[in-house]
Order: sequence, then structure tokens, then C-alpha cells
Amino acid sequence: MKVLSLQETHDVILDIFTGPSVEALNRRVVMLYNLAKNVEKGVIVELGTHHGYGAIALAFGTRAGHNRPVYTVDDYVGRKDWIRTKYPPSDYNTFQNNIAATGTTEIIHIKKSAFDAGAEWCTDAYLNKHNVGPAHFVYKVGLLYIDTGNAETTKYDFWAWAPHIMKGGIVAMRDTNARNVGTDIVAKQAVKTGQFGELDSPDAWFVILEKIV
Ligand SMILES: C[S@@+](CC[C@H](N)C(=O)[O-])C[C@H]1O[C@@H](n2cnc3c(N)ncnc32)[C@H](O)[C@@H]1O
Repeated sequence: MKVLSLQETHDVILDIFTGPSVEALNRRVVMLYNLAKNVEKGVIVELGTHHGYGAIALAFGTRAGHNRPVYTVDDYVGRKDWIRTKYPPSDYNTFQNNIAATGTTEIIHIKKSAFDAGAEWCTDAYLNKHNVGPAHFVYKVGLLYIDTGNAETTKYDFWAWAPHIMKGGIVAMRDTNARNVGTDIVAKQAVKTGQFGELDSPDAWFVILEKIV
């Protein structure tokens, strides 16, 4: 995989982008590239892949930094987002085409619900299936990016993944301004437990937490 600057990553993603808001894409690419670039240890996990724009930004960010593995989770079962737009299962094919077109096929996709993927992450069954021994497997999460836009599952997804995040690990959540999505509620709850501290709110759409215990 090539090493690309932030601007080059932006241009590569813009070439494959088919969504409505380039401005929203820009914000996401800048934030994810920079967050991923700073991850020194552990793996990077995204919940909610869709067409792969976020995963690709994460992959180029870490490639320019410490080259951590990038996992992205989406079950592609035809869910609806928080404004009731349907994500068709064919999004999976678009994702595959996009990682081929951008040279980011190293991204590891997990085709499961975000909750199931968290619950199974690095259990013995998981390690056997992937034929990787715990000694060789960097299983702690250094950066978790939550972008499922799913009001029903966000709080369960977060707590399924929380134990896998390393101390000092980062959680970025999108759509915190859309009250019905639940990321805002989960972020506040996470801080209240004392396990996470709020690091930043880069804009009204995102919150960034750090695991402190
Ligand atoms: C907003 S899109 C993701 C956008 C992507 N992260 C990006 O930066 O371009 C949300 C995606 O989350 C997926 N999704 C929603 N709820 C999910 C769940 N509980 N488990 C797995 N995937 C889910 C949907 O299928 C959809 O593709």
C-alpha cells in the first residue's frame, strides 16, 4: 500500500465518492487520517463501513504513521440510517470495488453486526478461525471509530467493544449532534463511568474520547 499525504488521500477518496456532501466527507477524511496516523499501538477498528470512505482514510492515515492493521465492521443487511435512508446490501460490492480502486485491500472487513463482532473479538473461536495465535496477534484496539448511524444498537455496540480498547486508546464517534443516533448519549454515559475522558469535540458532529483506565 502506498504512503499518501492527507491531501493525496482526500483526492483519491474524492475520485470514488458518490455521496451528497463533499463537505462532510472532507471533515471525516481529515479527522480519521490524523487520528489513525497517531495510533502507535494496537489495531484500528471502524464500526459501519458502508462504501469504505472512512476505512480508506484510516488506512492511509496509519500507513503514513505506524502502519497498524485496520478492521472495519458492517453486516450489510439492508439497514436504514437515522434519516430512514436504506443502505442496500449491494453497498458491500461498492466497498470491495473502492478498496481495489484505491489500493487499500489490506483493510480487513468483518461481515457481522457491530455487537457480534465485538462480542467475538479475539475469543478462542475467533483466533482459531483466523488461524492466528494470541502471541502473534495484536488484539487490543488503539482507535475505535463508531459510525453506524444506528440509534438502536449504538449503546450495545460501544459496550461490546469497550473492554478491547487499550488504556490510552481513542474512541471517535460520529453524528453526536443527531440526538436520535445515540452516540451523544453513549459518549456522556462512557465519561460518567470514569473509564473514558472526553478529549475533544472537533465540531458538532464528532466527539473523541480517551480510555483512561
Ligand atoms: C454512516 S454509514 C458508514 C459510513 C462510513 N463509516 C464512512 O465513513 O464512509 C453506516 C453503515 O453502518 C452499517 N450499520 C448500521 N448498523 C450496524 C450494526 N449494528 N452492525 C453493523 N453495521 C451496521 C450500515 O449497514 C451502513 O453501511
